[in-house]
Amino acid sequence: MDIKKPIKRHRAIQPLSREHHYGLQLCWKIRTGFQRGVSPARIWNYTDWFYQQYLLPHFDTEEKLLFPLLGNEHASVKKAVAEHRRLKRLFEDREHVQLTLNRIEEELEKHIRFEERVLFNEIQEAADEAQLQAVALLHVEIKISETWEDKFWE
Ligand SMILES: [Fe+2]
Ligand SMILES: [Fe+2]
Repeated sequence: MDIKKPIKRHRAIQPLSREHHYGLQLCWKIRTGFQRGVSPARIWNYTDWFYQQYLLPHFDTEEKLLFPLLGNEHASVKKAVAEHRRLKRLFEDREHVQLTLNRIEEELEKHIRFEERVLFNEIQEAADEAQLQAVALLHVEIKISETWEDKFWE
C-alpha cells in the first residue's frame, strides 16, 4: 500500500501550526462546555475573546504573509479564504449563540485540519527557503496567555 509519509512542518511556519493547536483547543472547550451544561452565554464570552485576541490576527497573518506564496487563484487558497470569511461571519453573529457555537466548533476544526493536512503542505512545497524565512521574520507569533478567568472547561 502506498502510504504517504507525513510532511514535516517547515520551521518557518511552525508558529502558525502552534496557533492551530490553540484553535483546536477552543473547539474542544466549546464541546466540553456543552457537555457540562455550561450556559451558551458563558461559552460565547470566552469564544468571542479568543476570536478577537488570537484568531483574527491569525487569519490576517495567513492571508497577508502565507497564502500569497501560492497565489490567490490557487484552489486551496480560495477555499481557505472562503472559510475565513464564513468563520468571521459566524464569530460575529451574536443572535443565535448556541447554534453558532456549534457551527464554529465544527467548522473551525475542519478548517484547521484542512490547512494542516493540505494547504500548509502545498505552501511549503511550492515556496522556496527565502520566502518561508520572510514569513518567519514578519510573523509575530501570538503568545497565548490564558488570562481568561472563567475557565468553564476545567
Ligand atoms: Fe486559516
Ligand atoms: Fe490557520
